Amino acid sequence: MKKIIITIDGWSSCGKSTLAKQLAKKLGYVYIDSGAMYRAITLYFLRNHVDWTDSNEVTEALKNISIEFRPNEKSQQSEIFLNDENVEYVIRDLVVAEKVSDVAAIKEVRNFAVAQQQKMGESKGVVMDGRDIGTTVFPDAELKIFMTADPAKRVERRFKELYDKNPNITIEEVKANLEMRDYIDSHREISPLRKADDAIELDNTNRTEKEQYEFTIKLTKELI
Ligand code: CDP
Repeated sequence: MKKIIITIDGWSSCGKSTLAKQLAKKLGYVYIDSGAMYRAITLYFLRNHVDWTDSNEVTEALKNISIEFRPNEKSQQSEIFLNDENVEYVIRDLVVAEKVSDVAAIKEVRNFAVAQQQKMGESKGVVMDGRDIGTTVFPDAELKIFMTADPAKRVERRFKELYDKNPNITIEEVKANLEMRDYIDSHREISPLRKADDAIELDNTNRTEKEQYEFTIKLTKELI
């Protein structure tokens, strides 16, 4: 069977990672959460008080960052490690989400992350989700999906996820964060979020996880 690259881009909290994980599992592909890389870099900058408005400081800081995805045998999912520390859960915190889009708009940060993402896709058999995967990271990917969903639904989903870990969180905070990130991500100069011309749009406002999976696996099977 032919191995391909599947890219899943789209707005915050519209179900990209759920779909990407299901596809990777079914196909025996590697799943890569590119957003986790930007979150891990942001965590490092916050912890080490890196002034990310200073490009020299950013360049120096990036030299000290090593990012790896390692499989967790128990959950059968890959988890992200920042300099050998498992940060899979701490990067989901709102403190990181508040700053990640500013950090992800920086040229040096994007070059650093994109080079690693392209390396991970060298032997194909990869499902990667993010904002610029079909446009910049793998412009020649065989299958490109662009996901959307109604903003109110997306806020509700993300609020549920975060509330389970932190009951002090409010729906207003979550809404403001998603709106801010979507705005910055789609208006930045380098690799803004946009649908690649050859991407297939998938609006999952009224689709179940099973339906969105079936829609995509059918498209995949036509290509492998
Ligand atoms: O889970 P959610 O969709 O909310 O976000 P994420 O995939 O974890 O990505 C976090 C942030 O990283 C996004 O809001 C973008 O600012 C940035 N990002 C990016 O610039 N390019 C990517 N390929 C992936 C994420």
